[in-house]
Amino acid sequence: MKYRTFGKLGIQGSAFGLGCMRFNGAASGDSVIDEQKAVSLIRRAIDGGVTYLDTAYVYLDKTSEIVLGKALQDGYRDKVTIATKMPMEAVKNRADMEALLAEELKKLQTDHIDFYLMHGINKEKWEYFKSIGAPEFFDEMKQAGKIRYKCFSFHGPYEDFEYIIKDSDWDMVQIQYNFMDVDNQAGTKGLELAGSLGIPVVIMEGLLGGRLANAPDNVQALYDAFPVKRSAVEWAFRWLCNRPEIATVLSGCNEEAQIDDNLRIFDTVEPGIMSPEELKLMEDVRSAYNSRTKIGCTGCRYCMPCPNGVNIPGIFSAWNNHSLYNTDPKEDWNMQNILRNDETAEKCIQCGACEAACPQHLPIIESLQTAWKELT
Ligand SMILES: NC(=O)c1ccc[n+]([C@@H]2O[C@H](COP(=O)([O-])OP(=O)(O)OC[C@H]3O[C@@H](n4cnc5c(N)ncnc54)[C@H](OP(=O)(O)O)[C@@H]3O)[C@@H](O)[C@H]2O)c1
Repeated sequence: MKYRTFGKLGIQGSAFGLGCMRFNGAASGDSVIDEQKAVSLIRRAIDGGVTYLDTAYVYLDKTSEIVLGKALQDGYRDKVTIATKMPMEAVKNRADMEALLAEELKKLQTDHIDFYLMHGINKEKWEYFKSIGAPEFFDEMKQAGKIRYKCFSFHGPYEDFEYIIKDSDWDMVQIQYNFMDVDNQAGTKGLELAGSLGIPVVIMEGLLGGRLANAPDNVQALYDAFPVKRSAVEWAFRWLCNRPEIATVLSGCNEEAQIDDNLRIFDTVEPGIMSPEELKLMEDVRSAYNSRTKIGCTGCRYCMPCPNGVNIPGIFSAWNNHSLYNTDPKEDWNMQNILRNDETAEKCIQCGACEAACPQHLPIIESLQTAWKELT
């Protein structure tokens, strides 16, 4: 495992950080989390050298912090730093923030959180956090030793990112970034701005929620034609780790093989590692993906549960799969479940709750109708 310096903080952390948002059941797709499996995956990652673990109050129906707390017993807590988050929706005043932090510490079975983040903010959410005194609360909790670093995770346009990062004394920022998102959200401009301020950057959705792990045929053809052979996952992580501003790349693995593969990859990647030819390859790969992608849904499930029972990420996954990989919708695992459980787009009443929650700001209502027409 390569270790990288966290900008102005000067501390070291593992280049691969484990995201605790994507654990599921014994079989992939089970909605009930398999706790024993998740604990074993977390410990496997730590035994392999991972020192950075990311969770949040809301992940996995509020069970992610509990599972992580269990995994960090038996001496594991002392080997790692924990990042968790405060969601805007759960706090209206100081008493709420105190209660929430106390609950998170209890679930995580620890006396302090290393990286404490205002969760998924844009300018509007940041203004809200300021109006309830969150920045001051975070500073006080730093003084009290309950948190070590004041941070935020971001989903919004670059302008919001620039405003927020310059508006407070942040210790770390977490952004969505991968070779497809260079001009999306904070993007490369945001990454470079954070770097110029000495603020370490933690990356989420480095594989676009897994989509970049499965190369469609037009992308695979480009990888195959390149003289050096690497998997799609390795290309994506290698491209990220080329950037010196990045402290840790998170990935939410759900299988031992994925953990082991990532441990192997992050043993080899360093800033400046990509040659001009390799960078050109990734530009061509980006164009190839763009020519086939229907919608930029990453399956984060922030839009769920839909009040009317529509399986939004499932429908978009089937739609992208159909376009990227020429899959038959009738054979698609998501579509079969959607039809069996009556979670179809026909149930959408256009209430807009999903669009308000979507960190990618996708036009979900309209896209659901188009997707459903094409899929059926
Ligand atoms: N703060 C926020 O607003 C926010 C938002 C999103 C995420 N996050 C955090 O950031 C973390 C990282 O994001 P992410 O989970 O979306 O990361 P990601 O790396 O983009 O996607 C993870 C998925 O990639 C696939 N994968 C990972 N390693 C692989 C390998 N070696 N081979 C093949 N497939 C592999 C798996 O997909 P399959 O399961 O399909 O195999 C896995 O579930 C999350 O877990 C969460 O902790 C935070």
